[in-house]
Amino acid sequence: MRALSSLVLTAAMALPTVLGSVEPAHVLHPVRMRRDTGSDGVQPSYNISLYYQAGSQSSAAAHVDAQMKLPTVVLDNINSISTVDCSTDTVEITYDSAVDYETSISEWSSADLIILTNHEGNCDTENAHGVYVVSSLAYDNDTQTITAQAAESSLREQAAFLSVTFNSTAVASRKRDLTITLSDEWSGDLINTDDLAIDVQEVDLSTTVDLSGGVDFDVSNLTATTLYLELDIALVADVSVSAQAEASYSTNVLSYTFDALSVSAFEIAGILSIGPSLTFGVGVEFAITGEANVTADVSAQIADGRLYLDLLDSSTSSSSGWAPTYNASATLSAEVDAELNPFADVELSIGIDVLDGLLDVSAGIEARAEIVNEFSVEGSVALSTDNGVTVENGSGSCENGYWFTSDFTFGVDVFVTDLYSETLYNVTLPIYDTECIAF
Ligand SMILES: *[C@@H]1O[C@H](CO)[C@@H](O)[C@H](O)[C@H]1NC(C)=O
Ligand SMILES: *[C@@H]1O[C@H](CO)[C@@H](O)[C@H](O)[C@H]1NC(C)=O
Ligand SMILES: *[C@@H]1O[C@H](CO)[C@@H](O)[C@H](O)[C@H]1NC(C)=O
Ligand SMILES: *[C@@H]1O[C@H](CO)[C@@H](O)[C@H](O)[C@H]1NC(C)=O
Ligand SMILES: *[C@@H]1O[C@H](CO)[C@@H](O)[C@H](O)[C@H]1NC(C)=O
Ligand SMILES: *[C@@H]1O[C@H](CO)[C@@H](O)[C@H](O)[C@H]1NC(C)=O
Ligand SMILES: *[C@@H]1O[C@H](CO)[C@@H](O)[C@H](O)[C@H]1NC(C)=O
Ligand SMILES: *[C@@H]1O[C@H](CO)[C@@H](O)[C@H](O)[C@H]1NC(C)=O
Repeated sequence: MRALSSLVLTAAMALPTVLGSVEPAHVLHPVRMRRDTGSDGVQPSYNISLYYQAGSQSSAAAHVDAQMKLPTVVLDNINSISTVDCSTDTVEITYDSAVDYETSISEWSSADLIILTNHEGNCDTENAHGVYVVSSLAYDNDTQTITAQAAESSLREQAAFLSVTFNSTAVASRKRDLTITLSDEWSGDLINTDDLAIDVQEVDLSTTVDLSGGVDFDVSNLTATTLYLELDIALVADVSVSAQAEASYSTNVLSYTFDALSVSAFEIAGILSIGPSLTFGVGVEFAITGEANVTADVSAQIADGRLYLDLLDSSTSSSSGWAPTYNASATLSAEVDAELNPFADVELSIGIDVLDGLLDVSAGIEARAEIVNEFSVEGSVALSTDNGVTVENGSGSCENGYWFTSDFTFGVDVFVTDLYSETLYNVTLPIYDTECIAF
């Protein structure tokens, strides 16, 4: 047996770390349209705009443009309404302003009117608009009150076309919306038997996502004409593993996956729900021809990967900024052939549900970083792995030493359920060209 040897290599580039904690889900609530006077809102209109945002702490927002089947008034946009009260078949609206009251009397047609209420009286549930189809109108001039006989309905029934854009980023700031970290969630043995122990000493996986997107949906024929997501992603992966082998092993893939909290980033009650979920995975590919200790680690980072994902047409999807920075190192303690390839992956999938199930699709992205470390005595590299990376034999003799080579691989795949899946980014970078390392 020759002397123990060890080898450490590094390829480095400094970048800021992006770590954080889980933020709560955002249930968006309706907000008033920003307008100078309330009087514009009195006029019924086929086209209406609704605005939604999360609580003041959060940055999520959405904008809904709806084309209604009947002229519609959105009561929350009429500033001069003092009270709204609903019963099972009436909506009672009282005005502060005589002008708006009289305009309403002259402009509202009982044959052709939808009223949208917003958390007024007992007209609707929290965070949703009430939708009422009017059948007749009565007036009380003394109290400036209009009483509509009306049947409660829904946007799903009364809208012809919906266009929704949503955003997890505050208009004023670039605050990250969704950050999830796996660091203390798990670490330990991937395998621990008499002959083989593979231990994960360090694992730090973290991702930060800005999510926005839009959908145009034709309610009459249940067809989406536009559907896209924009993702702005930062990733940090840091994995250190060691293997202690007492015997030879052919290629094994050992892995651990962790489902991070499923975060409902957006929900506009009855209209749209966006449910992202994250899965983190760590593992190794391992093979060895004899007794030795091996260690390997990788840290990789994507500072600002951007993705425009068209869920209807893959050809218009685009991406940028996925080039990773990374550090890696590896050691081997004895004269054997070995391979120890730590990997980390992050999968983000996003479910989109429009109008309580009328449209239900999901899309996602998976990023995987892996270091392929090959240790080979006398040029006999022969271990095969399933990562597709082939490692060159060293040429010539390597007396009293072993061949070592190391590659960094990084890939990003996107998928849209039932429609397409494709590789967005794929790179294999040599960290260490095949070289004879002396024992
Ligand atoms: C309503 O909006 C649609 C497109 O969103 C437009 O084609 C139509 O002309 C608008 N109607 C009115 C009355 O503004
Ligand atoms: C209430 O006011 C409207 C509009 O000013 C008017 O047309 C109507 O006659 C009034 N009704 C009664 C009962 O005074
Ligand atoms: C999303 O954020 C961008 C930039 O902050 C802003 O311009 C846009 O209006 C927002 N969209 C929505 C629907 O809030
Ligand atoms: C649904 O209607 C829109 C126009 O409103 C049209 O562009 C689209 O092709 C229609 N889709 C189907 C499947 O009929
Ligand atoms: C591996 O490490 C263990 C614990 O440090 C040591 O006892 C053993 O001799 C090492 N084996 C080899 C083959 O280097
Ligand atoms: C690589 O190592 C350098 C020096 O230790 C460090 O500054 C940098 O953040 C590391 N990069 C990654 C991607 O871990
Ligand atoms: C690698 O080197 C060994 C020993 O020199 C040789 O038998 C083997 O054919 C080589 N493999 C490749 C792929 O070059
Ligand atoms: C990515 O790499 C895999 C395996 O190495 C290869 O099969 C695939 O064609 C590559 N895709 C792209 C887009 O480069």
